[in-house]
Amino acid sequence: MQDLQSLETEITANITAASDMDALEALRIAELGKKGRVSLLMRELGKMTVEEKKEFGPKLNQLKNSLNGAIVNRKEELETEELNKKLEEERVDITLSRANEENGSIHPITQVIDEVTEIFTEMGFSVAEGPEIEEDFYNFTALNIPESHPARQMHDTFYFPEDDEGNRKVLRTHTSPVQIRTMMAGEPPYRIIAPGRTYRNDSDATHTPMFHQVEALVIDKDIHMGHLKWCIEEFARKFFEIDDVKIRFRPSYFPFTEPSAEVDIGCSFKDGEVLIGEGDDWLEIMGCGMVNERVLENVNLDPKEYQGFAFGLGLDRIAMLKWGIPDLRDFFAADLRWLKHYGFQALDIPSLSTRSSSVKGSK
Ligand code: PHE
Repeated sequence: MQDLQSLETEITANITAASDMDALEALRIAELGKKGRVSLLMRELGKMTVEEKKEFGPKLNQLKNSLNGAIVNRKEELETEELNKKLEEERVDITLSRANEENGSIHPITQVIDEVTEIFTEMGFSVAEGPEIEEDFYNFTALNIPESHPARQMHDTFYFPEDDEGNRKVLRTHTSPVQIRTMMAGEPPYRIIAPGRTYRNDSDATHTPMFHQVEALVIDKDIHMGHLKWCIEEFARKFFEIDDVKIRFRPSYFPFTEPSAEVDIGCSFKDGEVLIGEGDDWLEIMGCGMVNERVLENVNLDPKEYQGFAFGLGLDRIAMLKWGIPDLRDFFAADLRWLKHYGFQALDIPSLSTRSSSVKGSK
């Protein structure tokens, strides 16, 4: 019988040298498996004399146990090594400082469009759109704005060069052309708002060449001025979050509405600040009226059958009022400090806004 001692030394050395689980398992099968070297030795016991059995039996058992023990140890070692390797490779270095990311904010104009849209969609309006580069027909002619009207003057309106047919496009001076586009595109009744950019050749603390309006148009078979009044009052209450907001309808003139009115909101001017909802002063926020019969005829609607109202509201202006922003030009100066101060977080709940509802300004 082979020298058991040297066999143990040899196999133990191989076990210790096994470089991974597969190698270790192969070794276990080769030595201790059914046909392994040690198992074969065990089988030889059967052929031995009692004396020999007494001598080799315990030694073989001891060899088997010792090798099994070595395999278990090596297995544990390999598992630990594998785990350490994994930990090292997949390590997340939590000592690294966070990437220096800047949180953006929502521009007050975007915020005001969202709030206005929410209020009107709750009332049953849908949102319509039109192009900012508009045709003369939609911006002026179809709206009954005569050639001589000041809004058509070169110095008030941004015109594009004339095309071959002598037509010149304009940067729309108001959102009212969306009224025409809406009425020409589908059948009444209409109940739409159209927020968007508008352009006029104007620049001071409360005017910028590009500004924002929202248009509203309601046309149906029995719409009257009472609907218009309710709609505007309801909007003002919700937007300014003041239940008894004071509203005044002041007779006015627009070629596309008849009768026409301008809407003022009750406020007070104290120490150069405007406070909405108190005092005896008034601030204009929009133009409105019943859609002029001529406009209805221009889009082939019979004024005897269909009537309605329209209004156009300055979005920049009501944002300035609601959040106390004194200068309109800052809205579009892209100054990060301003945007951080007046911007909104995506999850801000508008009605919980902590901003003051007053604005520094002059009358
Ligand atoms: N379009 C007008 C303006 O820009 C506002 C307005 C819209 C007035 C709808 C009446 C009806 O001043």
